[in-house]
Amino acid sequence: MRRFIGRTAVISGAARGMGKAVALRLADEGATVIAVDVNGAGAAATAKEIGGQTLAVQCDIGDPDSVAKLFAAVAGSAEKLDILINVAAIVPFVKWDELTFDEWRRVMRVNLDGLYLMCRAGSEMMRAGGYGRIVNFSSNSIFAGTPNMAHYVASKGGVLTFTRALATELGPYKITANSICPGLIDTEGVQQTPHKDAFDFVEMLQAIKGHGVPQDVVPAVAFLASEEAHWITGQALNVDAGMVRW
Ligand SMILES: NC(=O)c1ccc[n+]([C@@H]2O[C@H](COP(=O)([O-])OP(=O)(O)OC[C@H]3O[C@@H](n4cnc5c(N)ncnc54)[C@H](O)[C@@H]3O)[C@@H](O)[C@H]2O)c1
Repeated sequence: MRRFIGRTAVISGAARGMGKAVALRLADEGATVIAVDVNGAGAAATAKEIGGQTLAVQCDIGDPDSVAKLFAAVAGSAEKLDILINVAAIVPFVKWDELTFDEWRRVMRVNLDGLYLMCRAGSEMMRAGGYGRIVNFSSNSIFAGTPNMAHYVASKGGVLTFTRALATELGPYKITANSICPGLIDTEGVQQTPHKDAFDFVEMLQAIKGHGVPQDVVPAVAFLASEEAHWITGQALNVDAGMVRW
């Protein structure tokens, strides 16, 4: 399928994990991808792997100035913005008794403040074009109340509810906004936390057995980012092998 020919897509968290997998897929289907990450070298490596007209931008999504510079670069290189996939987040592992306010803020700054800044600036560009697809990464941990990440769970619950409100605000401009709630997915981020040892436990809870990888999530993201998903907005889609059924 080549669903994204002529479309420009900004993808945050594109240096690795699911963000990178989404960037490669959208590019493979014809999108001009702008790979965004606080890890500039990682974003550049993704852009190099894609080749062609891809742009890589180093950006801390939690910093308003950095996001303003990002969208100035987007406007400078593309006439319009069609797709915004917000994948970047901090995925922490901190016991409740050890959770400090600084750590709480560190996660909220990126996972919620960053999401707001990206959607604010991105939707502004989309409105000018009268078309848009926004896909925000939440998590199925919001239904499970996964331990050792209360601040993360709170932030990802916020992603889902913010996205619902965004859908209401942006519907009149033919911009859709949906969230994806992955289950446990084997990425570089997860491999750096004790969750790397949780795959067998999570598998027991899944309707479909196996260990999740980024490619298991990508098709759902690509569908919600496509033109044909025009009648779907404000929704949250669990992509977790049926671990959470609601
Ligand atoms: N992997 C999982 O099991 C899982 C499960 C549910 C939800 N999620 C969500 O899916 C998304 C991707 O997860 P992943 O495991 O691929 O993540 P990851 O940790 O492997 O990658 C996250 C990327 O975001 C970037 N990033 C972090 N802070 C940033 C900032 N301030 N500005 C710009 N970029 C920043 C990192 O540099 C990294 O490249 C995240 O939103 C995560 O919360 C992951």
